Amino acid sequence: MFERLERMPDDPILGLMAAFRADADTRKVDLGVGVYRDDRGDTPVLDSVRRAEQAVLARQTSKTYVAPAGNAGFNQAMEKLVFGEGHATVKAGRVRTVQAPGGCGALRLGAELIHLAMPDATVHVSTPTWANHVPLMTGSGMKLDRYAYYDARTGGVNFGAMMEALDRLPQRAVVLLHGSCHNPTGADLSEAQWRDVLALVKRRGLVPFIDMAYQGLGTGVAEDAFGVRLFAAELPEVVVAVSCSKNFGLYRERTGALHLISESPAAADAVLSQLVRIARTIYSMPPDHGAAIVHEILTNDGLRAAWLDEVGAMRTRIANLRRDLVSRLAKAYPQRDFSFIERQRGMFSYLGVNVDQVRTLREKHHVYMTDDSRSNIAGLRNENIGCLAEAVAEGLAAA
Ligand SMILES: Cc1ncc(COP(=O)(O)O)c(C=O)c1O
Repeated sequence: MFERLERMPDDPILGLMAAFRADADTRKVDLGVGVYRDDRGDTPVLDSVRRAEQAVLARQTSKTYVAPAGNAGFNQAMEKLVFGEGHATVKAGRVRTVQAPGGCGALRLGAELIHLAMPDATVHVSTPTWANHVPLMTGSGMKLDRYAYYDARTGGVNFGAMMEALDRLPQRAVVLLHGSCHNPTGADLSEAQWRDVLALVKRRGLVPFIDMAYQGLGTGVAEDAFGVRLFAAELPEVVVAVSCSKNFGLYRERTGALHLISESPAAADAVLSQLVRIARTIYSMPPDHGAAIVHEILTNDGLRAAWLDEVGAMRTRIANLRRDLVSRLAKAYPQRDFSFIERQRGMFSYLGVNVDQVRTLREKHHVYMTDDSRSNIAGLRNENIGCLAEAVAEGLAAA
């Protein structure tokens, strides 16, 4: 049976990770893998997480099953974090939440639900989008298409082209939007643009599916949820997938949530029953530990304040790295304007160098990034920003 299966090509990110590990040069810089790093290059357990974890373990008396929808306290706390205290749609009983195995689990559950409700649905993703969106969406059976998004000339959103593309979509087309900190480009919608997209979504009867994997790492915890909160307040139906991997540093604990907004509480109940059934047919129940930690943090004032400080520190570090990189690049290669890197949000940016230059950066300067020049800005350290800027300048000058 298995002899019929062909070997899959290696994942380019995993290949990059292996090459980075094998590189013995002490100056090496990893901008490939999408995890937050501190100035020592570590991805530490947050202090608030460690304290919450100890409290959870000290209190835990059983490992019995929780429920297919996960930890009810976590789900409720996530609704408050994502939609804000007292959001009218939550108060109206139109939101249902299930805990999911990470943001990926939430995205796949959402895709399965949409495919169940609309077997002919096509989901439209931004050009470019996070590579994993494609298998996560199409794995459900949904068809996938793309809409214009990034403008490489400005490093921002090509908003005119995006709106034109969305305006051509048929009613009930699903549109996947990034809540904040767009991966891979760092180019986000402004508040005014979110409002314009909302008006278009209403006018054309589109179905928004928002992926929020970086709440708090862009402009602020509330600011990064602007689009989600606006859409939830104004539309009858919205699907929101959330990840706790980055902002709580819980990557391997697989912690996330799927929030469904329905037109009425009765419709919301039906949706929840279907979601629970879908979960049971895939993995039955989500892993408990990460959600228990997040629940502890969000419902304990001291831990919550400590966590907000820690997210704030991550956000500030990324913003400072962006600013420093732009100023170093301006000195090393004044012929090109790199100020877009400072305007972008979250961990990622395209540096805008070509494949050959990416390879030279890797082979000669020990700087690792994917071939499309997507760089995890949080992978930089104060000590190597200057080297990166000079290496980029050298590559550009030689081209
Ligand atoms: C855009 C985006 N969505 C979702 C996720 C989900 O991550 P996880 O499944 O690890 O929570 C990620 C992680 O890199 C991401 O970048």
